[in-house]
Amino acid sequence: MELRKGLEDIAIKETSITFIDGELGRLYYRGYSIFDLASFSNFEEVAYLIWYGKLPTRHELDDFKSRLAEERSISDEIASLVKRTAKTANPMDVLRTSVSMMGLEDKDDGELITKSMKITAKIPTIISSIQRTRANLDVIEPDPSLSHSENFLYMLHGSKPSRERSRMLDVGLMLHIDHEMNASTMACLVVASTLSDIYSSIVAGISALKGPLHGGANSEALRQFMEIGSQENVEKYVLNRLSSGQRLMGFGHRIYKSLDPRAKIIKDYLSKVSKDEETQRLFDIATKVEEIGIRILGKRGIYPNVDFYSGLLFHFLGFDLDLFPTIFASARVIGWSAHVDEYLKDNKLIRPKAIYVGDLGKKYVPIDER
Ligand code: SDX
Repeated sequence: MELRKGLEDIAIKETSITFIDGELGRLYYRGYSIFDLASFSNFEEVAYLIWYGKLPTRHELDDFKSRLAEERSISDEIASLVKRTAKTANPMDVLRTSVSMMGLEDKDDGELITKSMKITAKIPTIISSIQRTRANLDVIEPDPSLSHSENFLYMLHGSKPSRERSRMLDVGLMLHIDHEMNASTMACLVVASTLSDIYSSIVAGISALKGPLHGGANSEALRQFMEIGSQENVEKYVLNRLSSGQRLMGFGHRIYKSLDPRAKIIKDYLSKVSKDEETQRLFDIATKVEEIGIRILGKRGIYPNVDFYSGLLFHFLGFDLDLFPTIFASARVIGWSAHVDEYLKDNKLIRPKAIYVGDLGKKYVPIDER
């Protein structure tokens, strides 16, 4: 039996949801290139594509959008949990606990995808409530007449966003919807394979995504740019960080051995929009880190990943830095639940083995003789 740490290069299922070409840096959702979807599609349409396997007709999309919009409100119990914990707890802990409470409250026998739609619709309400509670601002109730991203920014800032900003969030969220068998999706599958419930799977996914090696990297990457402070400091910072054995956050990937296409799309967006002075300064630092990081790490196939620029995009849109992983989770619920749905069609309990390397046949010694 072979030991494969981190299950590297081990396939756990077949999928028709997402294909990643790690060598060429390409990503496909249900066969459509992420570059086309980012240019021509929108968050709700891609959510429908991932869940139902096809692009919706206009009627199907309008119906889907209104079903999502109807589910944005959260219960008084969850609203009070958020109010009590927003100022002190890690936002991913608040989100994880809130989704767990949704599971307690959901008495329906509904479909897995229907339940996942409810979770997807409610998470932006939770995230914006966290940020506004921290700022001692009134929580804004969702507006069902707005699109998913418009409403997200409306609840965050208390005013309707520009088309440009809601489009930026829409593309940013679209890019986070799925990514094949990443660690948090695997966590969801392990729970689902025991025939547990979808809320328990999603809680497992949020728990895994929280870590800085995975969804937590977007905040860490921006922290790096803030710590560096200016383009002049970049080279010294990167060299010091790497020589002290620390990782460059937002760099490297288990599958991509070239630039993550999502990083490219987000960077292109950020380079085109008019930015405030601080965001421009951080963007200039980030592009310098990218240049020097690739010069040092590129030959080992270590390039920027989605988290490298996504934090800058979320910061530009006004989200608190430590909320970035919750934004990632808000979109990834779609990929998690789609993979769970696909896996359960031909389920097999996930139970690998371990190679035993300890002692055997030891004689028990009574405690007074030890
Ligand atoms: C996401 O899987 C997905 O699809 C994830 C994701 C998704 O959409 O779901 O794409 C989202 O999580 C992106 C990754 C975000 N994490 C980070 O940016 C954190 C920094 N990156 C890493 O720690 C690392 O690159 C991983 C965890 C992402 C991947 O690491 P692997 O495949 O497990 O490789 P490894 O940790 O075994 O590293 C291999 C070598 C090591 O050097 P040696 O010990 O062999 O000498 O590469 C080096 C590592 O030190 N290395 C880095 C590095 N990443 C890997 N060195 C410096 N900086 C880095 N960022």
